[in-house]
Parts: sequence; structure tokens; C-alpha cells
Amino acid sequence: MITAKAKLAGVIGCPVTHSLSPCLHNFWLKQYNIDGAYIPLPVRPDDLKDVLSSLIKMGFLGANITLPHKESVLPFLDYIDEVAVAIGAVNTISIKDEKLFGTNTDAYGFWKNIESILKFRNKAVVLGAGGAARAVCYALVKNGLSEIIILNRTPEKAEGLSKVYKGKITQGKWQDRSAHLANADLLINTTSLGMMGKDELEIDLRPLPITALVNDIVYVPLITPLLSQAKARGNPIADGLGMLLHQAVPAFEGWFGVHPKVDDVLRSYVLSAP
Ligand code: ATR
Repeated sequence: MITAKAKLAGVIGCPVTHSLSPCLHNFWLKQYNIDGAYIPLPVRPDDLKDVLSSLIKMGFLGANITLPHKESVLPFLDYIDEVAVAIGAVNTISIKDEKLFGTNTDAYGFWKNIESILKFRNKAVVLGAGGAARAVCYALVKNGLSEIIILNRTPEKAEGLSKVYKGKITQGKWQDRSAHLANADLLINTTSLGMMGKDELEIDLRPLPITALVNDIVYVPLITPLLSQAKARGNPIADGLGMLLHQAVPAFEGWFGVHPKVDDVLRSYVLSAP
């Protein structure tokens, strides 16, 4: 039940109709018997600043920020933490003492999703150099992977990332992506290839050790062609839904004061969402 004292949060995007966050956070609110609500907030780019001020005035505890506002929201915030600065994007806002605090929980979500199944932590190969790759690279560097190779169709974009993490990330050629898989412990697809309606990711997995974990950031479909190819040859896999579920944990805990569980019940519930 929602009373007049309900704690409020939501997700700001444009459009926001595709977001799984309302389903996910409201599941937890019910599970932990919290008097609160998490609502979708469709906000046009020109209205973002005013909406943020209104959330403060309406007593919201915070909000998630999704496309296309993750970068454009930065100038409207009072504080931005080190993770969000490094990634260059904010996906979670908390409101305290009428001030807006921005952070980014994507790197946390990515790492939590793979941490317990990643056998070795030496070499990682990252495909793509967009926003998702920035979060992934941040997590890989922070968690001490000793060799990180980034491969992107447009080399200039990967160059930017390898410069930020000088000496920790090197760049390879997109065309040589299969060869770079030799001795890798982890392969992550952060490109949109393999997503429903997009081209498939073409990659020959033969050089990849059979113990290497293969992770796709894409979660529609849940088992992308890359993941099914990896699974068929015996590699462990981690799908993209896990990252989405885990990235929501710190936000929920920050707003509502409970550290929520990510488990199979939650996964099935979110997967069955209309
Ligand atoms: P996100 O913020 O979700 O990471 P993005 O910033 O649009 O999304 O990045 C999409 C990534 O998918 C980029 O690395 C992009 O490569 P380019 O930098 O060359 O554009 C990659 N990508 C998209 N379509 C691709 C394709 N057909 N072949 C190879 N890479 C592709």
C-alpha cells in the first residue's frame, strides 16, 4: 500500500516506456514492505533542468537517469562523484538537503554480474567504445585486470578511452578481434551488435580459451548470438540482464535504506514484465 508518507523515486528518460526500472524497483518495494513508489518520468531534454528542480520541491529521494540524459544532466547537479566523473555520465541521482548528487552505478552492476563466475583476472577484451564501454573499462581497471584490450570499429573513440587509462588499456584493430581473443579470461560485448533488430556480431571464437567468461551487455534478446555461440563451445556466459539488475541495487539502497537481493525470482519477474 502507498500512504501519504510514501518515499518517492523514479526514472527520467525520453522515451521511458521501454525501461525495466519501474518493474524492478516496485518489485523490491513490495518484497521489503516499504511504503514507497518508483514511477516512470518521461522528460524532454529542454525540460530536464526544471524537472530536477521540481523533484526537489516534491520531496523525491532521487531518480535514475536514462537515455538521452545521462551526459546532459551533469551541469544541473550540485555534486558528481568520482565514478560518474570518470565514466562521464550519471545514471543515479540522490536528493539530500535540497541538493542533487550524481553517481554512476553501471560499473558496479557490470562487475557484480560477473565477479563470482570470473575464474581468472588477467586479460580482458572489450568490444566497443561507447558509454557502456566506459563503465566496463572503469570496473576492469578498478578491479585490477592486468591486460585490457579495447577494439572498436571507429578507432578514434577507443583512443580516447585508452588515453584516459594510459598504460592500463591498449587498443587493437576491430578487424583483428578474433586474434586478440588468445589467452583472454574475459570477453565483453558493449556494442549494439546482436541486439534485436541490429546486425549480428561476427566473431570467430576459436582462439578464445574455453575457460574464458563471455559477457554481453545487450539483454534483448537475453541470449544473444554471441552468448549462444560461446555456450555451445563450452565457455561460461553472463547475460546483460544481470548488469541491469545489479546496477539498481546501490540506488535502491541509497533511497529506501534496504540492500535488495538480486536472485532468480527477481530475474523471472522482470523477464515476464509486459
Ligand atoms: P552505448 O552508450 O550503449 O555504449 P553507443 O555510445 O552508441 O552506445 O556505442 C555503441 C557502440 O557500438 C560503439 O562502440 C559503436 O562503434 P562506433 O564507435 O564505431 O560507432 C558500436 N557499433 C554500433 N554499430 C556497429 C557496427 N555495425 N559494427 C561495429 N560496431 C558497431
